[in-house]
Amino acid sequence: MNINERRDAGAEAVLVIIPTYNEADNVAAIVSRVRASVPRAHVLVADDNSPDGTGKIADELADSDDRVHVLHRAGKEGLGAAYLAGFAWGIERGYDVLVEMDADGSHQPEELPRLLDALDGGADLVLGSRWVPGGKVVNWPRSREFLSRGGSLYSRTLLGVPIKDVTGGYRAFRRRTLEGLGMDRVASQGYCFQVDLAWRTVKAGFKVVEVPITFVERERGDSKMSRAIVVEALWRVTAWGVGHRLGRLLPRR
Ligand code: GDD
Ligand code: MN
Repeated sequence: MNINERRDAGAEAVLVIIPTYNEADNVAAIVSRVRASVPRAHVLVADDNSPDGTGKIADELADSDDRVHVLHRAGKEGLGAAYLAGFAWGIERGYDVLVEMDADGSHQPEELPRLLDALDGGADLVLGSRWVPGGKVVNWPRSREFLSRGGSLYSRTLLGVPIKDVTGGYRAFRRRTLEGLGMDRVASQGYCFQVDLAWRTVKAGFKVVEVPITFVERERGDSKMSRAIVVEALWRVTAWGVGHRLGRLLPRR
């Protein structure tokens, strides 16, 4: 089936990319919630060979629904690498809109129509935002909220990005936005991938709109957040910020 046969009449082709690592208890529910909330959307599960069999469950979902696809990757390489592979998969196949969504239910598929509406309203990137009026977080430990708010504030200030929730991972990109970001030069592996792409989008002059979301902490499985992810984010954001400021101070030769 080619993309034009898959595309509903007149509508843009939407691909929701869901990276997974050990999400066996979550993957079926999230896929069916996406399919129910936006029936025309296709889903791509990008699984890093999860030891708990998530990839096999995703294959079964794909077998029974031709709008569900699976990208099997060899091993755990981080959220950033999984999204880069997922974007390339979708761009190659001609999707117009590429959505990022976590597998654990934190990003509610029922809120996706509002993100897509904002994209229709003229945005090049729509960010689901916890830290704008109307945005919320449910069941997050204080420590995690502190880390997220702090990380967002640090990145926003150092990089000069006018985005409140710059680390958030519920997003809708137009294909042409992604095509304009120089993604072959993205090195971020962990969650700082989100900051990296947001910053690139702003620098490229694209229009970014934040839409309030309610982020619900997972009930099943474990977060993959780790010390290594925080350390990578801290050093990369700091290096980007310092490089950017120096670049503006020193005249180009
Ligand atoms: N394929 C793949 N490979 N998937 C991964 C990997 C990986 O190495 N690491 C994490 N994931 C998947 C998880 O399975 C889940 O679907 C999603 O990425 C998010 O991972 P979580 O571990 O649930 O993230 P979180 O809840 O701690 O963090 C959330 O908030 C961060 C801070 O705002 C996410 O939304 C992050 O994207 C966000 O940066
Ligand atoms: Mn999560």
